Amino acid sequence: MSRATAQQRQGLGVIVMAAGLGKRMQSKMGKVLHPVAGRPMVLYAVALAERYGDAGVAVVVGHQGDRVRGVLASHAAVQIVEQTTQLGTGHAVMQARPVFSGSARPAPAQYLILNGDTPLLTEETIRLLLETHRADGAMVTILTARLDDPSGYGRVVRAASPAEGAPGQGAAVLRIVEDKDASPAEAALREINVGTYVVDGAFLFQALDRLQPNNAQGEYYLTDILGMAVAEGRRVSAATLRDAAEGLGVNTRGQLAEAERTIRDRIRARWMAAGVTMRDPATTWIDADVTIGRDTILYPQVTLEGRTTIGEDCVIRQGVRVTDGTLGRGVEILDCCVLRDAIVEDEAAVGPFTHLRPGTTVRRYAKVGNFVEMKLTDLGEHAKANHLSYLGDAIIGKGVNIGAGTITCNYDGVRKHQTIIGAGAFVGSNSTLVAPVTVGDGAYVAAGSTVTADVPADALAIGRARQENKDGWARERRERRSPQA
Ligand code: UD1
Ligand code: MG
Repeated sequence: MSRATAQQRQGLGVIVMAAGLGKRMQSKMGKVLHPVAGRPMVLYAVALAERYGDAGVAVVVGHQGDRVRGVLASHAAVQIVEQTTQLGTGHAVMQARPVFSGSARPAPAQYLILNGDTPLLTEETIRLLLETHRADGAMVTILTARLDDPSGYGRVVRAASPAEGAPGQGAAVLRIVEDKDASPAEAALREINVGTYVVDGAFLFQALDRLQPNNAQGEYYLTDILGMAVAEGRRVSAATLRDAAEGLGVNTRGQLAEAERTIRDRIRARWMAAGVTMRDPATTWIDADVTIGRDTILYPQVTLEGRTTIGEDCVIRQGVRVTDGTLGRGVEILDCCVLRDAIVEDEAAVGPFTHLRPGTTVRRYAKVGNFVEMKLTDLGEHAKANHLSYLGDAIIGKGVNIGAGTITCNYDGVRKHQTIIGAGAFVGSNSTLVAPVTVGDGAYVAAGSTVTADVPADALAIGRARQENKDGWARERRERRSPQA
């Protein structure tokens, strides 16, 4: 029993269970790390926990705990506890006791407990579940769903007659039986436990202390606390999902794909409602943490990943992938471009077939065209690199023209070196700029040059073999080959 008395208890403590491996995933990676719409699955439960956990949030980690800690690093309100061996969901919740039993603040009046593998639950559902718990004055309240195929889930066993239950609530909930422990009659029950619980603050840990692993899996089942509450004559309530799909628990790759589909539909609906046009929503892929401005148009097969931010009035043509990119307002990205960790400022134009790698900034009104690759490069306002170039480790000034086929030779086999091109410079086609090298403001580089030394401002650099013309040479050669023609 917690030291806190009933009077001292206050607020809602939330516990997220995220320590399991997830055997059925057949993966080397812990289940809750698998991304759903680009965000590790556990963060969906954590978002709900942060929304409601005014008396603290504990996340129970175990399998690949270091990696789970990593994804939670920026979540300051979350306290992490370790479950070193995964002895079941009841055992997982027990590990969270220290988070809520310190003297720093009152112990929670209630706990909300969330499975880490149920990413489709909404804030609204949690709100309704908490309301049900409080309205019914229950000791334990669970979220349930009715499924055509309940296999794999714990089944909700209710009293035979509704008369034993609360008015309008159906028959009283008696207990939960796990799939592996269910008799054929129990297995036929179609109401399942979603894995979302509200539990009275004074009851939770003293009930967990009495759990026994007497079941098919030899585990401490959190779900057994329902039967314990009923045995003590306490009230157990249930709220049933209107949309059963929301209760999806992700245990297999098939269920992972199902979760992904639902989340992506929601994301698309949200951005369309916010004023984004999608020519073909079904092939438009938008990760959970992407933001998109109004009146931006996305063509088919556009993929926006990670922490990408897109401004208003952009046009993104077919087959473009942007990962962790930042696009300003009025940016046009033509077909088939790949951008990663790159910034494209207002009114700039990119593509088709452009590759912008990490550390690239394309400044306002600049243009980057076909088959241009850029890395760690700053392309100035109104500058152009329209065709067939590699620009790496370069700082390129305002209004510079980079001719077709220009290459910055940034790598000497050991180190990377920088190329600096001053404002207004003109680099002729097929030039190679051997870094470290600086082309001064307003300078010209003749087409086909290999530039190995700095070019002063306003100078012309010609770095190529001088052309020699041999008069009549071609005619004489023709005549030698076919003498009597
Ligand atoms: C659980 C429920 C089941 C419910 C289903 C809903 C139990 C005993 N069963 O079954 O009634 O229908 O969820 O999806 O609770 N975890 C730990 N430590 C452990 C074991 C699990 O942290 O020792 C975590 C997992 O990482 C996961 C969650 O708890 O996030 C649920 O575990 P899982 O093994 O998926 O339980 P289910 O078999 O799906
Ligand atoms: Mg599960």
